[in-house]
Amino acid sequence: MVYIVAGATGVLGSEISKELSKNNEVFIIGRDEDKLSALSKEIDASYAVIDLNNTVEQREFSKIIPEDKEIKGLVNCIGSILIKPLHGTKIEEFEEVIRVNLFSSYYLLSSFARRMKNGSSIFFSSVAGTKGLSNHEAIAAAKAGLEGMARSAAASYAKDNLRVNVIAPGLMDSNMSERILATEQAREISKSMYPIPKIGDFNDILPVVKWLLSEDSQWVTGQTIHVDGGLSTVKPR
Ligand SMILES: NC(=O)c1ccc[n+]([C@@H]2O[C@H](COP(=O)([O-])OP(=O)(O)OC[C@H]3O[C@@H](n4cnc5c(N)ncnc54)[C@H](OP(=O)(O)O)[C@@H]3O)[C@@H](O)[C@H]2O)c1
Repeated sequence: MVYIVAGATGVLGSEISKELSKNNEVFIIGRDEDKLSALSKEIDASYAVIDLNNTVEQREFSKIIPEDKEIKGLVNCIGSILIKPLHGTKIEEFEEVIRVNLFSSYYLLSSFARRMKNGSSIFFSSVAGTKGLSNHEAIAAAKAGLEGMARSAAASYAKDNLRVNVIAPGLMDSNMSERILATEQAREISKSMYPIPKIGDFNDILPVVKWLLSEDSQWVTGQTIHVDGGLSTVKPR
């Protein structure tokens, strides 16, 4: 039985991989072979490289997991951020955001879904997938598309008892947010946008991932779970 984590060399991906590897076999996927190989040694996991610009045909790619191995979970942590108004966004930039945030999830789920009977898959959206935040058009398009894809896939694969859910975090400390949160002033301004004023981190997300992968959430599918200090839905006085 194996759990697949893609984007495993990012902050969320590596923390999820480390946590799962304590009690399970984990297979990690990423784009940087040096970082992947270092993590694979640390947690005793096998790995494969993903190139979203030049993907291997899905049936072929799925062979990275031996055919007799049951795939219990798939977690895609691949993602990027682009904060720009639409009129300043080049078509190449827009395409890149869609490729990284939406196409990666299409590629991974379409590669493994048919092999995941009784499994659980998790994708990462963002608060921008629900709430109209200015200058987030590209990422909003990608993440809202991902949420829609996940709901439909949850319906398609329910007959196999493959659950498909999305976690939509608010701003968290990680590689992609490093520049946005570079100064104390920027952190304070960001915090103040949130009903519960805090910058998130992987500790806010790990329990939700563990729950969605466990039998405790066996009746939960097709959901987007917001872990964002209330920003998507709450307006305090
Ligand atoms: N951090 C936040 O504030 C925040 C907020 C809302 C949603 N999210 C979502 O949470 C998920 C996890 O992100 P994180 O916070 O852990 O950020 P992170 O540390 O920057 O990790 C991002 C991951 O995506 C991978 N990646 C980026 N571009 C790629 C490409 N072209 N091809 C293949 N892999 C690529 C990175 O690979 P490398 O390790 O090789 O760079 C890394 O593994 C993402 O889906 C993100 O959109 C994050």
